[in-house]
Amino acid sequence: MAYYLDKIFLLLFLFTLSTPSKSANMTDIEALFAIKNEIIDPFESLSSWNESVPLCQWRGVVCGTRNQRVIELNLLDHKLAGVLSPFVGNLSFLIRLDVGNNTISGNIPPELGRLTRLRHLYLQNNSFYGEIPVNLSFCSNLVELWAYKNNLVGVLPRELGLLTKLKYFDFSYNKLIGEIPKSYGNFSSLLEMYLLDNDLEGKIPDEFGKLKSLEIFDADFNRLSGRIPSSFYNLTSLKVIDVSFNQLEGTLPRDLGINLPNLECLSISENQFTGSLPYSLFNLTGLAYLYVGKNDLGGRVPRNLFRGIIPSTFSSLKSLQVLDLSQNKLSGMVPKYLEGLALHFLNLSFNDFEGGLPQRGIFENASVDSFVGNSRICGGVPGLKLPNCNFSHSKKMNFKLVTLVILGILGLVVMVCAFFFYRFGRSKRTIPSLDSNLNQLIAMSYQSILKVTNGFSTSNLIGVGSYGYVYKGILETDGKHVAIKVLNLLQYGAIKSFIAECEALRNVRHRNLVKLLTACSCVDYRGNEFKALVYEFMANGSLEDWLHPDNSRPNVQPRRLGFLQRMIIAIDVASAIHYLHNDCQISIVHCDLKPSNILLDNELVAHVGDFGLARFLHLTDEATCRIQTSSSTFKGSIGYIAPEYGMGSEASMQGDVYSFGIVLLEMLTGKRPTDDMFGGDLSLHDFVRNAMPDGALEIVDPLLILEEEEISRERSQIPRFIRRQKMVEGIISLFGVGIVCSMYDSSKRKNMKEVVRELCSIRDSLVGCTI
Ligand SMILES: *[C@@H]1O[C@H](CO)[C@@H](O)[C@H](O)[C@H]1NC(C)=O
Ligand SMILES: *[C@@H]1O[C@H](CO)[C@@H](O)[C@H](O)[C@H]1NC(C)=O
Ligand SMILES: *[C@@H]1O[C@H](CO)[C@@H](O)[C@H](O)[C@H]1NC(C)=O
Ligand SMILES: *[C@@H]1O[C@H](CO)[C@@H](O)[C@H](O)[C@H]1NC(C)=O
Ligand SMILES: *[C@@H]1O[C@H](CO)[C@@H](O)[C@H](O)[C@H]1NC(C)=O
Ligand SMILES: *[C@@H]1O[C@H](CO)[C@@H](O)[C@H](O)[C@H]1NC(C)=O
Ligand SMILES: *[C@@H]1O[C@H](CO)[C@@H](O)[C@H](O)[C@H]1NC(C)=O
Ligand SMILES: *[C@@H]1O[C@H](CO)[C@@H](O)[C@H](O)[C@H]1NC(C)=O
Ligand SMILES: *[C@@H]1O[C@H](CO)[C@@H](O)[C@H](O)[C@H]1NC(C)=O
Ligand SMILES: *[C@@H]1O[C@H](CO)[C@@H](O)[C@H](O)[C@H]1NC(C)=O
Ligand SMILES: *[C@@H]1O[C@H](CO)[C@@H](O)[C@H](O)[C@H]1NC(C)=O
Ligand SMILES: *[C@@H]1O[C@H](CO)[C@@H](O)[C@H](O)[C@H]1NC(C)=O
Repeated sequence: MAYYLDKIFLLLFLFTLSTPSKSANMTDIEALFAIKNEIIDPFESLSSWNESVPLCQWRGVVCGTRNQRVIELNLLDHKLAGVLSPFVGNLSFLIRLDVGNNTISGNIPPELGRLTRLRHLYLQNNSFYGEIPVNLSFCSNLVELWAYKNNLVGVLPRELGLLTKLKYFDFSYNKLIGEIPKSYGNFSSLLEMYLLDNDLEGKIPDEFGKLKSLEIFDADFNRLSGRIPSSFYNLTSLKVIDVSFNQLEGTLPRDLGINLPNLECLSISENQFTGSLPYSLFNLTGLAYLYVGKNDLGGRVPRNLFRGIIPSTFSSLKSLQVLDLSQNKLSGMVPKYLEGLALHFLNLSFNDFEGGLPQRGIFENASVDSFVGNSRICGGVPGLKLPNCNFSHSKKMNFKLVTLVILGILGLVVMVCAFFFYRFGRSKRTIPSLDSNLNQLIAMSYQSILKVTNGFSTSNLIGVGSYGYVYKGILETDGKHVAIKVLNLLQYGAIKSFIAECEALRNVRHRNLVKLLTACSCVDYRGNEFKALVYEFMANGSLEDWLHPDNSRPNVQPRRLGFLQRMIIAIDVASAIHYLHNDCQISIVHCDLKPSNILLDNELVAHVGDFGLARFLHLTDEATCRIQTSSSTFKGSIGYIAPEYGMGSEASMQGDVYSFGIVLLEMLTGKRPTDDMFGGDLSLHDFVRNAMPDGALEIVDPLLILEEEEISRERSQIPRFIRRQKMVEGIISLFGVGIVCSMYDSSKRKNMKEVVRELCSIRDSLVGCTI
């Protein structure tokens, strides 16, 4: 009934006021009554729109101060239904029209096109249907056009491209079809464009490369296809790109992270992007969301890029909250630095990642859902129930397999050869026989060993070596402190190692080699064979203990070596290897040089030990070398062994040079070659090489610098900056030696003689001014 009364009232009103004396505000009043007339207003929100109330006090109406014409109509969230009358086009002074959050249906009236002053148009979250009126393109002052969440159909009108003042354009959540018009490249002021959840298809227009102010482009859940125009990737103001759930293809440009420095969100999940993930993305300090799941992205996830292990320089990615790399073909180790980020969500599922998972940060509470479908990962927190992994071990297994296959074949060949060798009475083998050669050395009885080691008591146990246990003790005869290696003869190759070591050390004498004092080859009380080696005791343990202090042992004083100390140790070690290679009667290859085999006496003089794998180079008799090489015992230690050994090469001096190079780089960086950050593409060698020369200080072991500063503060009169500069020069030179020694191609490595000479000259140039 009220509805009809209203209508009658309106007619009367129009009749009485539509006279020649009609005032300017009458147009607005007529229009608003017409609008009210078509609106269903169950809560009587518009009851103030009546003749007893001045126009400018009507609910939602704002008038211009001078002309008293309606400039704003604010009806947001008034539970209004019905349709929006075409009379709205008569509110010709309107600047702002907001009817959002209602349930108004019908078409968007094309008469809105007559509102040339209109700047802000809010139609969102209603039930408008039909097509977008082309005449909206006449609202040439429009800055905001919000029309999301309606039932609009048809295409995006090309003509809207005329609205060059638009900053916000939102037609998300409608049922629009067709392509995004090229003319929208003319939205030269546009900041934000939302087209998500429609049925748009075709390409993102090349012309979008002109949207220089664009910050947000959100068009996910459509059917867009083709490549994103390369010019689009150059829009430096972009903060958000969300095109997930489309059919886009192509590669992401390498320089994405450089050209889009403001990027905060990149979401391209569920498309067909190929190529690799641009490493430059990982340089972005503001990146918070990275969704790239379900594409065909390959390549390894970058790591040398992350020199920033030194916390102060580690500023990139600090904002990253969401990282979804799932369902691609990404490979490489899961980067450990991820545990240092403030991530809230991580999904690495269904890729080809490998190696151990970190355990802290996001990994602490992550569910196995974040990692499924990566058959080569292991470790992580126990809750994930992934296979247990020991990084070096798993690598070793792979490596071992390859080695075994190659060595197996080689071994077979050699065995056949050897058979013919013996069969046809060629020269007798030269493998040294224990009895004939070790007589002088083997002087201790089982009984005295038992006594010295306190009955093999655990309090005397100081280490577990490759072939047995190492005990400390004091010799009865002269009170000398000794280390006794008791071989576990059940371990395959132990006897061979005993022989190798006795042989190697029997005739060698060098300040930087561990001295073998005596040995025992006898039977124990149960009549079992027993073998032990007795060495000088090294009071300061192994270089390994110093480079990688075990913080979990609170009683042990923290140990640090300064730069000079490390350099001297490097020279000690190089001298020892040089001696083995070049100054012995028969050249000896150590085969297992690594920090745990470098022992430091009470004056921190380095002694190379553990000759269990040593090889003699009978240069005239290659077969000897080959037979020993073809044993299935593992030659050397993962990380330190020369790459050519993996391909079945014979033990060689160049192999020792490689190990030395790695040890040197480890001494300077404090990083083991088996560190989680290495593997795959990046080795310790590459890591150092990439950082040279400018990044030398960034990759150097911080403990080295700390200690050096402490040492030199006490005793140097040389100004600090000169000392520091000298040290940096020295570090760079030493890195250079380490890099050359650890070249992949063995022919590019220096020989040990050159290495010693070079190290000494570096030392002389530094010590000359006592840094
Ligand atoms: C006109 O609006 C005023 C204010 O809302 C209201 O008090 C009055 O009852 C209305 N008059 C009519 C005829 O609806
Ligand atoms: C229309 O404007 C005239 C003056 O221009 C004013 O007297 C009149 O009250 C206004 N009408 C309404 C409904 O506000
Ligand atoms: C007001 O709008 C209606 C509907 O669009 C139109 O027919 C009429 O001519 C307009 N009146 C004026 C004075 O603009
Ligand atoms: C629409 O309504 C929702 C829920 O009441 C509210 O959160 C939102 O801010 C409203 N929209 C606008 C533009 O105010
Ligand atoms: C749409 O409007 C209704 C009614 O005000 C509100 O409850 C709802 O939250 C709004 N939705 C959005 C997305 O703004
Ligand atoms: C749309 O614009 C055209 C061209 O200016 C005009 O002729 C037509 O009347 C407009 N339609 C409406 C409904 O305003
Ligand atoms: C875009 O604007 C340019 C002028 O800036 C005009 O020449 C061109 O026709 C417009 N393109 C479209 C598709 O409207
Ligand atoms: C993008 O920017 C780069 C560097 O600024 C430039 O070399 C390249 O040509 C640009 N690409 C396009 C398509 O504009
Ligand atoms: C990361 O940023 C630095 C400094 O801005 C730049 O030198 C380096 O090339 C960038 N790295 C990548 C991969 O873009
Ligand atoms: C993991 O969960 C525990 C217990 O709910 C919580 O104390 C800890 O802060 C969480 N760690 C992270 C990295 O979210
Ligand atoms: C990660 O993505 C995979 C594949 O899309 C999905 O099955 C899994 O549930 C996701 N994990 C999480 C934690 O969301
Ligand atoms: C990992 O392997 C090394 C030698 O390969 C072994 O000494 C160490 O105990 C292993 N660690 C774990 C946790 O299995």
